[in-house]
Amino acid sequence: SARTPFIAGNWKMNPGTKNEAIALGKEIASSFSDSTPCEVALFAPYPFLDATVGAVGSSGVKIGAEMAFVEEKGAFTAAVSVSMIKSLGCNWALAGHSERRCLFGETDEDINKQVLNLLNHDVGCILCIGETQAEYEQGLVGPICTTQLKKNLLGVTAEQMANVVIAYEPVWAIGTGLTCPASEAQDVHATCRGVLADMYGAAIADTVRIQYGGSVTPETVDELMAKPDIDGALVGGASLVAEKFSRIINFKV
Ligand code: G3H
Repeated sequence: SARTPFIAGNWKMNPGTKNEAIALGKEIASSFSDSTPCEVALFAPYPFLDATVGAVGSSGVKIGAEMAFVEEKGAFTAAVSVSMIKSLGCNWALAGHSERRCLFGETDEDINKQVLNLLNHDVGCILCIGETQAEYEQGLVGPICTTQLKKNLLGVTAEQMANVVIAYEPVWAIGTGLTCPASEAQDVHATCRGVLADMYGAAIADTVRIQYGGSVTPETVDELMAKPDIDGALVGGASLVAEKFSRIINFKV
């Protein structure tokens, strides 16, 4: 396809110090070259964003925030706005990660507002969706992903979809070492692309990158990336180990 693969690291609440973030950012940036077959971004904790932007320098690796609150400024203690992250040189953010949904109570409506706010600020958005283990066991993967896409993208225009990446992350595969089998992930990605085609037409749906996330490792990335509707990965644990993440972004096609 004409889609440029896109692999991102989500550092979550890691690493522990600014100096470690700088060292990790530098090492990852040094493994990104003209022969790297994908676009690469790192999502870092707020206190380290500025330093990580500096660490990757002009390498071409993009830096983003793990979420951005929907208000512009004011009395919202501990919240961080899109304009704040933009002012650091960050033009990407995650929205709807399952940890935000499950641990911080973000609803589909909250996530929809975040997505719209990012896009209205011309910041790229990786929208994370995916079913829980219980939903998986009940055979609800298709309906859950469909509902999340429809609710979370409500009001997003076809034109704005150029700034949207979808990350399919089965919750049962996150941090568990249980990678979703590539063929199964491919089926879900095809379903998601079908939902996007219903919403925006096939031509637009064909341009949207859909990443897989959930225990992606150097051992599993090549098979995943070989699937026609898997356009990248959102990597948690392995993005904290430079050697592993470097191998992941330099996947073999
Ligand atoms: O955002 C990344 C995902 O939650 C995957 O995390 O690679 O540690 O399973 P993981």
